[in-house]
Amino acid sequence: MPCYNVCVKTETSRKITILLALVALIFACGIGYLGYQNYQLTQTKLSLETELTNTKQDFASTTQKLASDIEAFRELLIATQSDKVSAEQDIRKQKEVLDAISSTLGTYEKLANTDRELLAKYSRVYFLNENYTPKYSITIPAPYTYEPEKEKMIMAEVWPFLQKLLDDAKTANIDLKIISAYRSFDTQGKLKSAYTVTYGIGSNKFSADQGYSEHQLGTTIDFTTSKLAASFYTFEKTASYSWLMENAYKYGFILSYPKKNGYYIFEPWHWRFVGKSLALRLHDGNKNFYDIPQREINEYLISIFETEPKVQIAPLSSSTR
Ligand code: DAL
Ligand code: ZN
Repeated sequence: MPCYNVCVKTETSRKITILLALVALIFACGIGYLGYQNYQLTQTKLSLETELTNTKQDFASTTQKLASDIEAFRELLIATQSDKVSAEQDIRKQKEVLDAISSTLGTYEKLANTDRELLAKYSRVYFLNENYTPKYSITIPAPYTYEPEKEKMIMAEVWPFLQKLLDDAKTANIDLKIISAYRSFDTQGKLKSAYTVTYGIGSNKFSADQGYSEHQLGTTIDFTTSKLAASFYTFEKTASYSWLMENAYKYGFILSYPKKNGYYIFEPWHWRFVGKSLALRLHDGNKNFYDIPQREINEYLISIFETEPKVQIAPLSSSTR
């Protein structure tokens, strides 16, 4: 019996010891495992931190490289833009030069194709030979003429200006008819001979010799009214003449022989087309065609058939004949 009790106690004590040993072992294993886990975590953390540091460094160097590339691109862009601007300026300059050349060529071509005689002074100054005729001429429609049965010709380019003048005059209740227009070298010769037979040398005061008449140019007309017939000298007193004095320049026509001109008697009926620019200039400057130097008149040749008057640069000067 005493052995039983001792034996039981011993057994129990052994079991407790074993249990405690097991618990201690499990605990030790747990501690070991946790330590290992902690070690692993620390290692992972270190490795991640290293990786992060490397990544940061990589990122910093990549950012720096990118910034440097962007700067290089920016400089390249500025340089390219500057090249572009200077190339555009070059192109613009070249275009201006080309435009100027082309305009000058256009002017020369226009001048070369414009008959210089059209603005020359034909009253005893210049001479037109027997072969000179307007390049293109047309028949003035009969209703505009004083004698519809007699054909009157005019330079084709001048007709639109004259027709507008006549139409506007009619609208303003002004009675205007054409009694003389283009006259050939021969016609002028015959006319002058007839006047000479009647008036002798007195005809020189109102009739040009052949080759010296503005009528041979095809740009000049004599006006009358449907009532006046060929009574030229009373034309000055008509409303038609007053209207012409106020308005003819707007259509490019000028009075060739005003009062006290140095060539012929006062011819209120005789009007010459010189183009709107020159006619306006003469009107505004209160000057007569034959009082202006030929050199200045010639500057208006280029614009003679322009439908709108051009503003002229220099004022017209007067010249002695
Ligand atoms: N009556 C002008 C001067 C001429 O005959 O041309
Ligand atoms: Zn005339």
